[in-house]
Amino acid sequence: MTRSICMQVLPGAWLALVVLLAWGAPGIAAERCDAVPAQYAALANPEPPLEKRRLRYWRKQFKAKCARCHGAAGDGGGEEAGRQAAPPVAFTDAAFMDNCTDGQLFYQIAFGGEDKSAMPAFGPESDQGWSEQKVWQMVAFIRRFAE
Ligand code: HEC
Repeated sequence: MTRSICMQVLPGAWLALVVLLAWGAPGIAAERCDAVPAQYAALANPEPPLEKRRLRYWRKQFKAKCARCHGAAGDGGGEEAGRQAAPPVAFTDAAFMDNCTDGQLFYQIAFGGEDKSAMPAFGPESDQGWSEQKVWQMVAFIRRFAE
């Protein structure tokens, strides 16, 4: 008797959870991208598409600088992801990526996250000191995860 109730209730509960997660993730992402100042949001990526022969370089950069939080596959599953108050999103999630313009992604990588976020800044004025060109190219690289 108990067993048959479980069998009936559980699939419904799982389905509800999956639906909730699927709806929630793009919501969070849209909020974060919406918070980016409009003058950045409107910027288009000025860099030409990434050259195939340079992909190895970008994979290495991502692995060295981003993967511990964002996951080596860009799925948000890095070993430090669980420790974050506001977890990183999955770049593999097309619904999320479609909610963000290149300019919004650029801003978040160049200037980092809000006050309590662990998301570091990588732009020219940060400790990492990447050129704007390098940040734009990283934007192009993370877009590949959802393709
Ligand atoms: C120490 C952990 C950490 C590292 C390292 C890190 N990030 Fe993040 N990142 C986060 C967290 C946490 C968020 C979400 C919270 C926020 O946006 O403030 C985030 C957010 C982002 C976002 C905005 C999308 C979103 O989830 O809101 C982008 C784009 C991003 N990171 C790119 C990168 C790239 C590219 C690198 C490497 C060059 C990198 N991050 C390195 C933790 C990290």
